[in-house]
Amino acid sequence: MQSMRLPIQILARSLGISMKTRQRLDYRDKLILAPMVRVGTLPMRLLALEMGADIVYTEELVDLKLIKSIRRPNAALGTVDFVDPSDGTIVFRTCAQETSRLVLQLGTSDPNRALAVGQLLQRDIAGLDINMGCPKEFSIKGGMGAALLSDPAKAALILRTLCSGLDIPVTCKIRILPDVAQTIDLVQQLAATGIAAIGIHARTRDERPQHPAHPEVLRAVAQAVDIPIIANGGSKSMHCHEDLRKFQADCGAASVMVARAAQINVSIFRKEGLLPMDELIERYLRLCVDYDNAPHNAKYCVQSILRELQETPRGKRFLQCQTLQQMCEIWQLGDYCRRRQRELRTLGNSGRAEVEPPEAQAKRQKLEEISSGDEYSNVICRNMPFLRSTYPSDNHLPKTQLYVHAAREGKSPPAYETQQCDKLFRSICSFDGQRFSSSFWEKNKKQAEQGAALVALLHLGQLEAQVLRDNGSLLN
Ligand SMILES: Cc1cc2nc3c(=O)[nH]c(=O)nc-3n(C[C@H](O)[C@H](O)[C@H](O)COP(=O)(O)O)c2cc1C
Repeated sequence: MQSMRLPIQILARSLGISMKTRQRLDYRDKLILAPMVRVGTLPMRLLALEMGADIVYTEELVDLKLIKSIRRPNAALGTVDFVDPSDGTIVFRTCAQETSRLVLQLGTSDPNRALAVGQLLQRDIAGLDINMGCPKEFSIKGGMGAALLSDPAKAALILRTLCSGLDIPVTCKIRILPDVAQTIDLVQQLAATGIAAIGIHARTRDERPQHPAHPEVLRAVAQAVDIPIIANGGSKSMHCHEDLRKFQADCGAASVMVARAAQINVSIFRKEGLLPMDELIERYLRLCVDYDNAPHNAKYCVQSILRELQETPRGKRFLQCQTLQQMCEIWQLGDYCRRRQRELRTLGNSGRAEVEPPEAQAKRQKLEEISSGDEYSNVICRNMPFLRSTYPSDNHLPKTQLYVHAAREGKSPPAYETQQCDKLFRSICSFDGQRFSSSFWEKNKKQAEQGAALVALLHLGQLEAQVLRDNGSLLN
């Protein structure tokens, strides 16, 4: 493989073609962030690297989705985005800080499709991994993931095609088979394709996370083959950095790969010890802001860190958050988020995909049309979502506060009229000869009225300091 590639590089140089030569990823003696759907997105990968991970894997991305994506450098964010042109979603976002340590995990059942994806992506990643361990129905039905464990010929063909067609190292991640000898045989067949290493989850296809892992099987495999083994499946026994190395040693493996223990606390990679939860979340949210991560993804990852603390008042307040700004307010990063979002607007790019899904575009246009109609021409508008968790009791709700204010001032109580567009609602609050509305479309009428009352209170200087702080982001 290597010897085939060298003459191409020499030829390219002699033809004046610049080929960036990158150091080939070495899979020995490494701490690795495992592929995890929804967790292994850019901010978490960068945080894992900051914490001491040597290599980070993306979440599994399916070939059919990647193959139709368009590579788009995003100057405002300093990222490279792979965008699905049919619906505008960002399938994969990466940046230069991680390129030399990033492995993309692919879900595939087809060598040619996998190769096409590899060719599209190889300049932005350091390695390509094929998922051969996922037991989910979606994967199995598509002949991907653990389905490949029972079709070693197909698995080997995919790997051989990639190894001979790509300039970056190729690996795969499997699960052990019910029998040790069978597992060794499978690993030998796969190793013969030219792959650089093999990740092994020390459980069988039918075993779940609650079942004990089998480090002894990995040890037997590692002794029988030359290829670097990346041991995985030990999260249950991992509570600090040393535990990672212990699992690696128990498995006699070249490297160790961690999923759930890192999902809960990614500072498990940190030699100096775990970081306190709040510091971890703060650092994670900063990266989400820096790289304009999708709020639902940020929320999922923070929920994984908070776990049972979601039941605390702060956790409950967090669960109500819809935007990165709202999440940041809870960890005193409101100003940081505001500044960055302003900066991104100035840079002329919101950071989101420029291609908007047709349905989303139609929906947005419809809402904008309504909002710019006569109905709202003399209405005082602010963008203020209603966050129930901000208010300690019903007595503090904006509508109640406004009602009390009206009574105190001897004015008529406020009146509300609400408009509905598809499943979204927006209210106008009429009070003392003026009309108020929040431009944020709420999920129900009640919330829309509260949003309108919130804008009225703000305009009248009646908003409680706490609410002002929580909604500060949304005032401009
Ligand atoms: C939230 C989550 C998402 C996962 N997604 C993937 C994935 O995309 N690809 C994959 O090969 N394994 C995936 N896994 C499995 C892990 O990579 C790993 O094999 C498994 O959790 C065992 O390792 P652990 O004991 O360190 O958690 C996922 C696991 C979790 C918890």
